[in-house]
Amino acid sequence: MPVHHRVLKTELAIFDLPEDLPSEDQALLEVARQATANSYSPYSNFKVGAAVRLTNGQIISGSNQENIAYPSGLCAESICMFAAGAQFPEEAVVALAVTTVSGSTESEDLVTPCGLCRQVIAEYSSRHGSPVRILMQGRQGPVVVVPDIQSLLPLMFEHGTLKKND
Ligand code: THU
Repeated sequence: MPVHHRVLKTELAIFDLPEDLPSEDQALLEVARQATANSYSPYSNFKVGAAVRLTNGQIISGSNQENIAYPSGLCAESICMFAAGAQFPEEAVVALAVTTVSGSTESEDLVTPCGLCRQVIAEYSSRHGSPVRILMQGRQGPVVVVPDIQSLLPLMFEHGTLKKND
């Protein structure tokens, strides 16, 4: 390995026992799980729920909403982030939880935000200048936690890049 380079590492915390998480994280995941009940997913049959906690303590939940024109649908995470921005523009999102009730009953496969949702989360994080803690779980099993969107979207295109062009 040549010495003249630097290494960018991403850290993920894996909670094998969800009950080891702080209680407010567990509560947010539970709201996300309940939100799957409102998933409109007749095309994929994959029910995703998400929930965000704001700086004022408010919790907003959302679920995936699909469309016969497939790309017109939206993921649970983006719906949550946009709802937060639309209803509470002054509040930053402190944490986001995402999970599913779909898949086999044994499945521990994680639901993780897609690329588009990562970009949406990044925008709100930059806008408020504060990190969004992200909790991800499958139908059951371990919860993976990252402290901010940088961990899921390293080297993201940020506000500062455009400003340098002024
Ligand atoms: N989906 C989400 O809502 N969030 C994710 O993190 C992964 C995917 C939705 C989109 C679509 O409605 C269905 O799950 C299958 O991709």
